[in-house]
Amino acid sequence: MKGSVSAPGKAILLGEHAVVYGKPAIAIPLPQLRAVADFHQNERTFTICAADINRPPWHWSASAANSADPLASMAALTLRHLGICAPTGEITIRSAIPIASGLGSGAAVSAALGRGIAGLYGKTLANAELNALVYAVEKLHHGTPSGIDNTTVVFEQPVYFQRGQPLKTLKPTHRLDFLLADSGVPALTRVSVTAVRQLLRKEPVRTNSLLEQIAAAVAAAQACLAAGKLLQLGELMTENHGRLQHLGVSSPRLDALVAAGLQAGALGAKLSGGGLGGNIIALVEPATRSAVERALLAAGAIRVLSASLGG
Ligand code: MEV
Repeated sequence: MKGSVSAPGKAILLGEHAVVYGKPAIAIPLPQLRAVADFHQNERTFTICAADINRPPWHWSASAANSADPLASMAALTLRHLGICAPTGEITIRSAIPIASGLGSGAAVSAALGRGIAGLYGKTLANAELNALVYAVEKLHHGTPSGIDNTTVVFEQPVYFQRGQPLKTLKPTHRLDFLLADSGVPALTRVSVTAVRQLLRKEPVRTNSLLEQIAAAVAAAQACLAAGKLLQLGELMTENHGRLQHLGVSSPRLDALVAAGLQAGALGAKLSGGGLGGNIIALVEPATRSAVERALLAAGAIRVLSASLGG
């Protein structure tokens, strides 16, 4: 068997961090930004090559399955799920998703790898099965993930996600255009999630109130998406950024990008993902989009990507 399978990156529109505590959040897939697994069965020792994400080639052995490497964990869990004890073949992972930037690189690489391993044996994993495997790897390597990254990436749909609730996909009625601006500062989600957990311990009343306010904004944003109320959606995003600042997960660089985007005419802007680095997301209109993009680059973004929904 030989072929190519993939999974997209993701961006969180509203609700990050609060989603870890059972609140809802909204996320969108980034179909243009993908992790790809090229697979090819050759009856030789199972090998994963992933130069794009700075991994040396990894060769299967029974002990390698216990590795601290998320790729090795995903391989081991998928092979066990498929009942394969002596795997063969080669998978090459290519990924256009920046690492440690809040765009779901880890979940997308795991999802592509899971699909590639199934492909080696002429099998397909149902999205629900793959989602459970990717979530298990996220839990092993990223602390206490809510599950929003793996769900958005595996199902490749805009989602209104709440831990433990049935999956709710969103169908925006109007076209929505976003710009994602990369601060160029890598940041691990685990670190920002731990920081919020510590804040919650230290200042439970204030922190819980911020998480509740974020949850209310997410519910309001869902209604805005359904009704095409883009101005209000933008305001909710910007307010959400303010609450993330109070949670301590923004940074001067992210704040500068948000301010530059708003000043240039974005309808709303906020950090997206874990924060402390990574990307901001700005809601833009066609008329102001180029000006916002220029302003983001002038404010220090190392890359600006476009994403759209609906319409
Ligand atoms: C990461 O993309 C979003 C966070 O809310 C963490 C999580 O949901 O697992 C910061």
